[in-house]
Amino acid sequence: MNYDKKKICVVGSGHVGLVCAATFAQMGHVVICIDNDKKKINLLKKSVLPFYEPGLKQLVVKNINKNLVFSASLDEGIKKSDIIFIAVGTPPLPDGSADLTSVETVARAIARNLNRYKLVIEKSTVPVQTGQKIKETIHRYRKNSTQFDVASNPEFLREGKAVEDSFAPDRIVIGVESQRAERILRELYAPLGVPIIASDINTAEIIKHASNSFLATKISFINAVSRICDLTGADVEKVALAMGLDKRIGKQFLQAGIGYGGFCFPKDIEAFIYISKKLGYDFGLLKEVKRINDEQRACFVEKVKERLWVLKGKKIAVLGLSFKPDTDDMRFAPSIDIIDAFLKDGAKLSLFDPASQKNAKLLFKNKRVQFAAGLYAAIKGCDCLCFLTEWHEFKKLDFKKIKLLMANPLIADGRNMFDGEKLRKLGFEYIGMGK
Ligand code: UGA
Repeated sequence: MNYDKKKICVVGSGHVGLVCAATFAQMGHVVICIDNDKKKINLLKKSVLPFYEPGLKQLVVKNINKNLVFSASLDEGIKKSDIIFIAVGTPPLPDGSADLTSVETVARAIARNLNRYKLVIEKSTVPVQTGQKIKETIHRYRKNSTQFDVASNPEFLREGKAVEDSFAPDRIVIGVESQRAERILRELYAPLGVPIIASDINTAEIIKHASNSFLATKISFINAVSRICDLTGADVEKVALAMGLDKRIGKQFLQAGIGYGGFCFPKDIEAFIYISKKLGYDFGLLKEVKRINDEQRACFVEKVKERLWVLKGKKIAVLGLSFKPDTDDMRFAPSIDIIDAFLKDGAKLSLFDPASQKNAKLLFKNKRVQFAAGLYAAIKGCDCLCFLTEWHEFKKLDFKKIKLLMANPLIADGRNMFDGEKLRKLGFEYIGMGK
């Protein structure tokens, strides 16, 4: 089957925008990826990526200066394209709402540069009814009566698996208001051969809110169960395994631990609570999801304190800082609160992460922490070894060597990565989360 090459502009070169631009370029379309950060664009022009994402650099290198170009000129990108994806940041404001300033700025730029029909697609995670606002803004600021459509096409990719998810998503959601918009989007995604769910724009926006909130609810649910397991000596991993085999429940996102972090779940839950309230509904369930999640970090710290008694002057080694493996992203990582709590009690901290060390150094630059050059260097002489991210390389560690290096053989496993019994047999004291 032959598909038309489309002229696509992706505004925003973050985790969503850059992956989306590289994917469409690889599918044979002509893509301009825009960012207002000139430094970032200059680096991208040399294929230097602003973050670590497995497989993405190869994709950029393969397509750059052929199907894929980077530019800081939003006006130029819009004028040259027929399809515009808005993938700019929507960071949280102090009241929990999403800051939509960048989305509005792009909508006005589209209005200014509406030289022919354009399909404007919101890709960023936005509150329901943002599509309508984008439409109103373009109508308000356009200088002629050139036609356009607005659509919603929420992204479901996971950091660390973004390229894989982008080419093989479980489903594509398109929120559309015209047959023309639906046809263009169906054509664009047809080569992926995955189910396409078409709906109105508000429904598509709610699908994104509901999907992330449901996944976060699953995590908080199992974390609440893990607390009961702790209180009764039961094993949350067995509980999750047996629950997950029920096809109606499913086994994913039932991994108990220090809870969810990252730039998606924490802010998206807040934003859904906020917009629900604004619309007149109190989404109490989600408030509880957030509370349980926050409590998991405090619970982990308490478990360590219970064993070490006094933290002042003790050396705690922390392996894993990013909010999850295969990313260097430190945003809203559970490690931040846990490290702060240890510091508050006067512990000495030695930190190591295989990918996020650079970002963590910036984040903790005013904090009394040490970064180790390697895994074993971090552990040397520590009174407690904490695992806060389940990096694959940690699973291959030599625990006999570790025991000799530690001043006190206490392991606190915030992600339930290890078999506690095996470690106990090796002479460690082991703390898990609900097991
Ligand atoms: C999440 C969603 O999974 C994506 O579908 C969505 O597109 C994305 O948010 C977004 O809205 O942009 P992501 O934040 O990359 O993706 O990471 P996840 O793999 O979902 O993990 C989120 C957090 O939950 C991590 O801190 C992880 O450690 C934690 N988690 C996950 C658990 O604590 N337990 C689990 O069982 C699963």
